[in-house]
Amino acid sequence: MSQGITRDSMRGKPVDIEPSRLTVTKTTSPKELPPSKSLIFGETFSDHMLRIPWTDATGWGAPSIVPFSTINLCPGTTMLHYAQSLFEGMKAYRHADDTVTLFRPEMNMKRMNTSAQRLLLPTFSSSALIECIKALIAVDRRWIPKEPGHSLYIRPTLIATNSTLAIAPPKEALLFVIACPVGPYYPQGFKPVPLYGTTEYTRAAPKGIGGYKLAANYGPCTLAQKCAANWGYTQNLWLHGPEHWLTEAGVMNLFVVIKDSGGVTELITPPLNGMILPGVTRDSVLALARNHVSGVKRLGGFPDVIKVSERPINMGEIIQSSKEGRLVELFGTGTAAIITPVERIGYNGGDVMIPTGEDGMGPVSRPLWTELVGIQMGAVKSDWNHVVSK
Ligand SMILES: Cc1ncc(COP(=O)(O)O)c(C=O)c1O
Repeated sequence: MSQGITRDSMRGKPVDIEPSRLTVTKTTSPKELPPSKSLIFGETFSDHMLRIPWTDATGWGAPSIVPFSTINLCPGTTMLHYAQSLFEGMKAYRHADDTVTLFRPEMNMKRMNTSAQRLLLPTFSSSALIECIKALIAVDRRWIPKEPGHSLYIRPTLIATNSTLAIAPPKEALLFVIACPVGPYYPQGFKPVPLYGTTEYTRAAPKGIGGYKLAANYGPCTLAQKCAANWGYTQNLWLHGPEHWLTEAGVMNLFVVIKDSGGVTELITPPLNGMILPGVTRDSVLALARNHVSGVKRLGGFPDVIKVSERPINMGEIIQSSKEGRLVELFGTGTAAIITPVERIGYNGGDVMIPTGEDGMGPVSRPLWTELVGIQMGAVKSDWNHVVSK
């Protein structure tokens, strides 16, 4: 991607991230690896981190891989006051033959650049940052758990670091990347989750920031999440407007499967209307389903005939199709759990029940999950995998 064009390029200054300038300082006190069974998401960090500073005057500085450490910030730093902060979430997987890969990292880089543009933070060359991230993963290779279903979660983050309380486009920024070993999201197998159809709070609004992966989108949702949890639901189903359009489920994109009156299966996900994060898993599910339909690659077990739609769907249609026995399944998608089946939606004081298969997954989500996990763990060949090291 060549969107590393910032205000600096007009003044002829070096602007982009340059992997050739990368330096590596290894820790002298490597940590002991925790037992994989004890891993809790986001609580264990690998030995190193990647740091790349930026200033408006000089562009991107030299990338460095350094021992994992705290970041010193002035208490007046704009990011601490005005949430000029964004992040990404991706995973490095270790295959059975020990090859380490990233799954579609260019999609995360594209989204990170889009988020940066929204906050007037600096953009960068996707391939340059991928190269630096690959170097970090190679240095911390031993942190990628060997057990099936495990991975190294990678968290690229970009923050404004100006020491000023003035609200203005950032003049200084820091891009850093940290990594956490993680286990499977559902160690005991798939467990369909209950969602709370949320109308009391809004995650995203038209022309707002819901379509970007900005820090400001996440903190405010924890109150709604806590309310849902208090009422016995795992996540919020974010419903928009008086018609209660389905948007996202917690921090996952959403898919619904219904049959039309003629019995034809339709796989539906709400369109990217600015209120929905363009998920990498969402895009991958759509691509796999469309490849099945076009015959590019048929998925074993997937319905023979299926319509794939990016279209609005509201609670009225969910309830109607449920009443008529046409609701097949509903699931969330995201890097963390790949596919999460839903068992019911708390709505208007009652529960709308969603069919789930014996093992938790439905007839459409299961073949999609099998294919996606097969690719990520190396059992299925795909050019979505970027090799980090062999
Ligand atoms: C709000 C939101 N929606 C959807 C997703 C799923 O996106 P992806 O498939 O890229 O992980 C995420 C996670 O990144 C998210 O935070």
